[in-house]
Order: sequence, then C-alpha cells, then structure tokens
Amino acid sequence: MNLKTLGVLPTTLLVLLDALLTSAQRQLPLNTVVPGTSNNRQSFTIPAGEKLQLSVAICSRNSQLRFRLSGPNLPNPVEIPLTNGWGKFGPETLSGATLQIEGSGSFEVGLSDGERPLHELQETKDLPFFGDTTANQAILFSPPFSAPPLLKPQFPNYTMHPVDIDQSSPPSSFPDYNLSLFPTTNDNNYPHTSCFLPGQSQIGTGALTSEESQWLRDEDGWRTQYLIRGLTPSTNYTAYVIESSKVFGPIYFVTKSAGFPCHLAANLPFCPRVAYSVPLGAPPGGADAYTGATLPAPLREPLRSYITNFTISLGRLACGREIYSPLVECIDCQREYRKWLCAVSLPRCSEPSPQNPDAITEIPAEPTATGLSASKDSNQQVLSALIPVQSSAPRRNSDFPQFGSDYQMLLPCIETCTAVDRNCPPFLGFKCPSSNFNGFASYGIGYIDGADGDQNAGLTGEAQDRYGNVWCASG
Ligand SMILES: *[C@@H]1O[C@H](CO)[C@@H](O)[C@H](O)[C@H]1NC(C)=O
Ligand SMILES: *[C@@H]1O[C@H](CO)[C@@H](O)[C@H](O)[C@H]1NC(C)=O
Ligand SMILES: *[C@@H]1O[C@H](CO)[C@@H](O)[C@H](O)[C@H]1NC(C)=O
Ligand SMILES: *[C@@H]1O[C@H](CO)[C@@H](O)[C@H](O)[C@H]1NC(C)=O
Repeated sequence: MNLKTLGVLPTTLLVLLDALLTSAQRQLPLNTVVPGTSNNRQSFTIPAGEKLQLSVAICSRNSQLRFRLSGPNLPNPVEIPLTNGWGKFGPETLSGATLQIEGSGSFEVGLSDGERPLHELQETKDLPFFGDTTANQAILFSPPFSAPPLLKPQFPNYTMHPVDIDQSSPPSSFPDYNLSLFPTTNDNNYPHTSCFLPGQSQIGTGALTSEESQWLRDEDGWRTQYLIRGLTPSTNYTAYVIESSKVFGPIYFVTKSAGFPCHLAANLPFCPRVAYSVPLGAPPGGADAYTGATLPAPLREPLRSYITNFTISLGRLACGREIYSPLVECIDCQREYRKWLCAVSLPRCSEPSPQNPDAITEIPAEPTATGLSASKDSNQQVLSALIPVQSSAPRRNSDFPQFGSDYQMLLPCIETCTAVDRNCPPFLGFKCPSSNFNGFASYGIGYIDGADGDQNAGLTGEAQDRYGNVWCASG
C-alpha cells in the first residue's frame, strides 16, 4: 500500500483502515518514530531491508514492557535488552520478523536503515555543559553543534580573531534542543528517554524559567545556552538535553547556598567562555547576569586592550615566515592566551558542594604562592581549589571595584597557563605562573595534569565532572 495516498482519504476511511492495519499487524515504517500504547500483545512486522536498526523507548514510569523479536532470520526469539528505558537491536537483516510487545504502558519504536538508530542515549560524550550557578540561577549549555572554520593566518595575511568574537550570526539551522531539568531524586529508576523526560522537566512550572540563546563558546562550536531562573538554593538538579529522539545526559549540578554573594557574568564576546559567577554586586537594571555591555568598563576595557595588544605583537613576531613550532601556530597561541587572560582576570566565586562542606582550605594563600595543590579530605574526596577572600583583602585584579562581601574564590587550573606556555612562541616571554600581569595569581595545581606537569595525571583529570563537582576554574 502506498502510504502517500492515505493522506487524501476521508478521515472515516482512515480510521477504519487504521483499525484494520492494527489487527492485521502494522508494518513498521522506516525512519519514523512510531508511538504506541500497549495493553499486552501488540505487534509490528519488520519490512525488508538490510542492516536495519530497531530501537525502542519506554515512555512511562514503572512499565513492565518487554519487546520480543522473532522471525525467519532469527534462530531463536530475542528479547531486546533495556537499559534506562531504552533498547536497540541490529544492525541486522530482519525482513519478515515480528516485534511483539508484552506488558502495558506507552512506548516508542523506531526502525532505521541509516547509520544510527532513531533513538539514542548519549551518556558519556557530548554531554550538556555546566557553566555555573548562583543560589537560584544556573547557566547550562547544549552539546556543541557547529564548529567555526579554523583561521590559518599565513604570511602575508595575518587575520586573527578580533577582540570581540562575532556572535551575531549563528548557523541558520541549529538542532532543536530541549532542556529537561528537575531536582535530583534518589529514585533513579525512570526512563532516560526522549518521550519520558520532557514531562519530568520543571521548566515552565512554578518560578522555574529558562531563556535560550545561541552562543559561540569556543573552538568546539556553537551551543544553545540556557539561563535558568527560579531554582532552589543548595539543591542538586538533574539536567538532560533532548534533540528529537536523542537524549544527552544526565548531568547534575548544585545551586549555591542562599547567602551566596556573587553574580553571574556571561555572554562576553571578548571572553566567550566565561559563564560563571564573579565577585561583583548585582548587575544593573535588575538583569540576571553581567554581559559584554554591562560588565563595568574599567574591568572590560583593559581586558579587551590586553587581547588587542597581544594579538598585535603576536602578528608582528610569531605569524611571520618563521615557524616557531611544527605543532602549533600563532592562532593557537592567541586562543589559549584569551582563555587564560579571561580566567585570571575574572575571578570565579564558588563554595564547597553540600556533599563536601569542609572542602575548603582554611589558610588564605600567600600573594606570592604559586598555587594550591590538589589534595583529598579524610573521606578521600578531592578538595576544590577554593580560597577564602576577605572583602578587605587586596584585589587580585585591581580593575575590579571593591566587593563588599567575603567570598570564596575558585582558583584557575594551572593548565589554563601551561596551555599558553605550550602554544605560544618562547620569544613572547610568557611565563607560568608568574607573568607581569598576574603577580597575584595563584592556581589550582595537580587537578588535571600531575603536579609535575604529567598530562592528565592529576587527581581528577578534569576541571569539573558531570556530578556537579568543580575543582578548579578552566576559564
Ligand atoms: C586573509 O584571511 C582571511 C581569513 O582566513 C580571509 O577572510 C581573507 O580574505 C584573507 N585575505 C587575503 C587578502 O587573502
Ligand atoms: C522543544 O523546543 C522547541 C523550541 O525550541 C519547542 O517548539 C518544542 O515544542 C519543544 N519540544 C518538546 C518536546 O518540548
Ligand atoms: C595597549 O597598547 C596601547 C598602545 O601601545 C597602550 O596605550 C595600552 O596601555 C596597552 N594596553 C594595555 C592593557 O597594556
Ligand atoms: C548530585 O546527585 C548525584 C546523583 O544522586 C550525585 O551523584 C552527585 O554526587 C550529587 N552532586 C553533589 C555535588 O552533591
């Protein structure tokens, strides 16, 4: 039967046909997600085709649904194994096979003849990215979706990135991501599927709202940025990003305690990776966060000027005919310098996670100290690179207005600095960790790389994890 002709049939006839098809076993269409509700014994036949991938997703909690495949190419019936409410079978030639659904509940099935099954759960890579929280706000990002073209400045054309990264032209089509966000529960036994999670989300219920925009964060590409308001202080949240029948996640994050004094800064075109809380009073005009336009000019302009001047000297010295390294180019140096400069110029506020309330170094670091070494507490949990900063203490970046509150500063990971060292030509004279600019800087050391510089041999191997721990500031 040609399905296209069905579209012009009168509705009554359609209903009749549908009933007939159902009782006579529906054939699964290719590359279309088919929703269904079973009250035991519903079945579908699989059409001819090679390398077909069948995927199933459970859409309701506590369903005991089981999906069994039998057919000429299968010596024995197969029960599709389900994990987190999701299962797949194939690629396999399944012509003439029958998919039998037992138990009751709602579900989706999808049959794909493409590279990927229709339903997917990305639990380890391409996770949503956690920016930061305050007591009742959060910034989250979708996985990246469109990497910007690589610049290759070459003699005599030294075009490098401008001081303000152009954010005005996101790709004309971007994935239709939806965020599902809810307080973390102990009951982890729910389907992690695209047909279940949207109904769980608390966005749009009560005070919880989310504002979306597209943002070119770094060389990984554009992401959908979510600015979330109305969260509860000191609460662990679970977040997923959903794109049609694909699910990315979960990630977890914790909101700060009710008295958290700092405010968010984000959408800074000169520091596009910054999306965290900084030691500044409330942003002007009741805004949610400081942006490129509202970050105080005495703070913004020197930063922009440093990037400009660095780019000029880089263009003069390093992008010439002399290749300073077979591995890296001046554009890599410019990129890493920007990340480092932003991380050390815009200190990040944080606090110990509620799971680990004592995770703070009691003694403020000496202004001349290189950094704070990664260490574990008595429970073998890694302490974050947090140091208390008294409101009376000299400011790390003297362009910052005096902040009227004590806070805890999350030190930048030393790797933000070693990356500059590694990617920049030696004659620029950039030294870690004591350049002229950051005489006051100290770093979190031994988190990502080992304390002696061994790559990825640190205590955590990363600046933050998917469970809401943030150990040092990666800029
Ligand atoms: C220089 O490079 C930039 C970026 O790669 C490019 O847009 C521009 O057209 C180039 N200019 C010349 C004169 O080749
Ligand atoms: C996903 O988000 C889009 C807007 O980006 C919205 O139109 C659509 O209804 C959402 N889908 C779900 C399942 O919530
Ligand atoms: C950048 O260079 C200009 C011109 O040489 C200079 O006036 C300015 O102070 C420099 N900016 C910084 C932040 O050093
Ligand atoms: C948040 O909840 C998850 C899941 O229960 C847990 O693994 C994680 O450690 C919690 N994170 C924090 C920082 O409490």
